[in-house]
Amino acid sequence: MEKAEKIWINGKLINWDDAKVHVMAHAMNYGTGVFEGIRVYQTPKGSAVFRLREHMTRLLDGCRVMGIDPEIEGKIYGLEDMIDAVKATVKANKKVDYIKPCVFLSGERAGLNPIGVPVSFSITCIFMGPYLSGVSAEEGAKVMTSSWHRPDNLCGPAGAKVNGAYVTSCLAKREAVRQGADEAIMLNSTGHVAECTGENIFICKNGKIYTPQTSECILDGITRNSVIEIARDMGYDITETQITRTQLVSADEIWMTGTAAEVVPVTSVDGRTIGSGKTGETTKKVYKKFQEIVTGKDPKYERWLEYIN
Ligand SMILES: Cc1ncc(COP(=O)(O)O)c(C=O)c1O
Repeated sequence: MEKAEKIWINGKLINWDDAKVHVMAHAMNYGTGVFEGIRVYQTPKGSAVFRLREHMTRLLDGCRVMGIDPEIEGKIYGLEDMIDAVKATVKANKKVDYIKPCVFLSGERAGLNPIGVPVSFSITCIFMGPYLSGVSAEEGAKVMTSSWHRPDNLCGPAGAKVNGAYVTSCLAKREAVRQGADEAIMLNSTGHVAECTGENIFICKNGKIYTPQTSECILDGITRNSVIEIARDMGYDITETQITRTQLVSADEIWMTGTAAEVVPVTSVDGRTIGSGKTGETTKKVYKKFQEIVTGKDPKYERWLEYIN
């Protein structure tokens, strides 16, 4: 990760090193925040944020479910204010490919009661490069099934990017990396395939594509939704459904989708080879189309790009 020059916090752009919170901040101790991860791409028309509106809508939905009012120093931030703030932050930095907005309880408070704790809103830019950096486009990723389950809707809002909920993803990721895998797949409490630590999952079998439905306690990924639309437009049959481990390991192709990871092929699950053991043709086609779209080379999907200048 390369850090950027400026971080936006509570309406001000400040130097990276000055963006600090107190150790007694409620969010620091109890994970009471909601965040987003958003990609910025270089296009022929300059820098473009991919699906900014959808990301900020999900952030606000997450705030609503957590009961966090995005009221920062007396100003209530709505969708348009947040979009403008993100654009201003990207503009203020030189080299950005990833943005992380976060609304969190920054007030110093001992005890769990979150009511009345002051809220902060930060927007951080970085240059991330490829997220799963060790994975080659041809060889694909090795994944393992985690012993940690995807928390379900009775443990918290599974469809929101709540800071504290990511401890499970961190545990699963650590387990996977320690065992030599690139990524972990988490099952849900009914034993179905849910998603990876920071990515949704797709399988392809006999030319048809399947992905876990949102009621399977997954994050309703914005890349997932984009890939569903793109693949349907390409003529593929896609079903959102329940997926078992048997269906997963007997798939012809598997790929993951996420803002950070983008579209990443999976060629091995728990030591079992998937398909030919190399990235499959459908994965390659979907990946290629996705890359064309995000880099502004397909006018049909320009509505997904929010240009900075
Ligand atoms: C747990 C989890 N699942 C899936 C995703 C993919 O979602 P998106 O495509 O919106 O980045 C993410 C990343 O945000 C995630 O953290």
